[in-house]
Amino acid sequence: MSEKYVPTFTLNDGVEVPAVGLGTWQMQGDEVITAVRSAIDTGYRHIDTAAFYQNEADIGRAIHDAISAGDVTREELFITSKVWNDQQSDHEVQAAFRASLTNLGLDYLDCYMVHWPCPSTGRYVERFAALSTLQGLGDVRSIAVANYNGDQLREVQEKTGIVPTINQVELHPGFSQAELRETHAQLGVLTEAWSPLAQGDVNHTGLLVDIADKYGVTPAQVALRWIYQLGASSVPKSATATRQEENIEIFNFELSESEMSRILQLDDGPGSGRRYADPDVFPGDDVGGTPTTQK
Ligand SMILES: NC(=O)c1ccc[n+]([C@@H]2O[C@H](COP(=O)([O-])OP(=O)(O)OC[C@H]3O[C@@H](n4cnc5c(N)ncnc54)[C@H](OP(=O)(O)O)[C@@H]3O)[C@@H](O)[C@H]2O)c1
Repeated sequence: MSEKYVPTFTLNDGVEVPAVGLGTWQMQGDEVITAVRSAIDTGYRHIDTAAFYQNEADIGRAIHDAISAGDVTREELFITSKVWNDQQSDHEVQAAFRASLTNLGLDYLDCYMVHWPCPSTGRYVERFAALSTLQGLGDVRSIAVANYNGDQLREVQEKTGIVPTINQVELHPGFSQAELRETHAQLGVLTEAWSPLAQGDVNHTGLLVDIADKYGVTPAQVALRWIYQLGASSVPKSATATRQEENIEIFNFELSESEMSRILQLDDGPGSGRRYADPDVFPGDDVGGTPTTQK
C-alpha cells in the first residue's frame, strides 16, 4: 500500500495538525488495532480517540507496534483524546488526563479536548482552564474543545485569556455550521468536523454522487474535500483499509466555487440539520449519559 500525502493546518499555538485524521468511535479490540495500523501504513498521522470510546489501550498498543515496526515515529503522530462529561472538577479532569495517558501508554498527548461543554453544570470554562494547567506542565501540546457554541468560546477567551486551538463539532453536507465557522474564523479556532460522512449517508446524496462522477471520485471523497476547502479538518472513521485510503485521497482534485456553494445549500434541503445530540442541551443533568442519534 502506498503512503498518501496529507497536508496540515497550523493551529493558533503554532502546532500543525494533519487535515484528515482517523476517527475511532465505535471501534474496539482487534478491529481498532488493525484499523490504526492500516491507517498509519496508508499515511494517516492523526488519530482521534476519547476516554468515552473505551479504546485508548488498544490504540496505544497499535501505536507502539507501529513505532516498534519502524512504520512511524512518535513525533510524526498527532494523537487526540478527550475528557468525558462525568469528569467535571479540575482535579477530575487532571486525573482523567493521566488515565488517558496511561491507557495509551504515552508520555504526552498532542491534543486534549473537553468532549462536551455540559452547559447544565456551568463548568465549561473551568474544565478548559484545567487543560491549560496540563499544557503548562508540558504534558499536552495543544488544548482544545468539542461541541462548544460561539458564546461559550468567547466566554472561555474572556475568562482564561486562551483561545482553544480546535473546536471539534458535528459537520457534514446538510449541516455546514456556517455561523459557528464564522465565529471560529474571528477567534482563530480551527473547525474540526466529526461525523464528516454523516456516518456514510453522504454516499446516497444525489448532488454529491453527481459531483463525484464528474471527478471520478466517490461521494465520501467529495464530502471530505468540501470540508477541507471550507478550511476545516475532519476525522472520518473507517475500519476498512480501502475506505481509509479513499478518505485521505482528496488532495488531487478541487471543487469549484459553484460546487462548494451548491453543497452548502444542502443545509436548506430535505434531511438536513444535526443528526446527533444538541450540545446546547445534551447531556442535561445526566453527565454520565450517552449521546443518542436524533435521525
Ligand atoms: N467530539 C464528539 O462529540 C464526537 C462525536 C462523534 C464522533 N466524533 C469523532 O468523529 C469520528 C467520525 O464520526 P463518526 O464515526 O460518527 O462517523 P463518520 O466518520 O461520518 O462515518 C463513519 C461511517 O462511515 C463509513 N465510511 C467510512 N468511510 C467511508 C467511505 N469512504 N465510503 C462509505 N462509507 C464510509 C464507516 O464504515 P466502515 O468503518 O465500515 O468503513 C462508518 O460506518 C468518530 O469516529 C470520532 O472519532 C466525535
